[in-house]
Amino acid sequence: MVKVIRTVLELKQYQSEFFEGKSVGLVPTMGNLHEGHLSLLERSVSENDISIITIFVNPKQFGPNEDFDKYPRTLEQDVLKIEDKFSENILVFAPKDNSEIYPEGFDTTIQVGALTKILCGANRPGHFDGVTTVVYQLFSLSKATNAYFGQKDYQQVKVIEKMTTDLHLPIKITMMPISRDQDGLARSSRNQYLSASDRETALLLPRTLVEIESILKEETWVNSMIKINEVLESRIADKNWDYLEILDASNLKPVNENTTEVVLVGAFRVGSTRLIDNRKVEIKYA
Ligand code: PAF
Repeated sequence: MVKVIRTVLELKQYQSEFFEGKSVGLVPTMGNLHEGHLSLLERSVSENDISIITIFVNPKQFGPNEDFDKYPRTLEQDVLKIEDKFSENILVFAPKDNSEIYPEGFDTTIQVGALTKILCGANRPGHFDGVTTVVYQLFSLSKATNAYFGQKDYQQVKVIEKMTTDLHLPIKITMMPISRDQDGLARSSRNQYLSASDRETALLLPRTLVEIESILKEETWVNSMIKINEVLESRIADKNWDYLEILDASNLKPVNENTTEVVLVGAFRVGSTRLIDNRKVEIKYA
């Protein structure tokens, strides 16, 4: 059964009745659910007594010229998708308005440091402050013991892990693999902004990451670095790329002699739509 809760008061009443001694899994989303979100929920259901999926388009993580207004809001269809896939009890917390999360006078920002200043943080100033502030609030309201995030937003997961460690938050973060459409594009609510020809252009993002991954797998470290730098230079000259980098997967710092796994991260613009993607690759010769 799916229960939809629209206010914090209702959530608290539900918690006091049903949460005592239970493990609680949280799947924070901005709605417009696709298979990727549902796979996070599936994992949560398999690991917890109670699962909560939150649906809230968080104004604090959008910049002034970003797509907050046009971001798809599809609560009814989202609930149907959950009902279709799950027979278990699922709680959908979909705050009826922004004041449920940010009540009048709300004046707190949770800010992680250096990790939020690179990659998407450099292109979208303040974005991660909005993410960590809402995620902290959702952790706190939900009383969750486990939370599930998708690898597509790799930097976001690293930032949330850092916040959780630094603040000793009593919650375990699980990162789930990227869910992709058949053509290789990572699933994202923003894909629906793309026309058929935009989508063809957008495929350069996953295809470039696959190309770099195969170089890494086929060549020695030194040879692969030479070839990869050629790919990076040729691509990055194209203005569609916000960034395309190869970093240490554990901390998003430059690769060094202790690196055992790298992450290839890219952000690519097609018209006004900005898409991100990444691939993790274990390495032997750093
Ligand atoms: O990944 C998202 O959809 C959002 O950034 C999140 C984690 C739900 C916070 O609003």
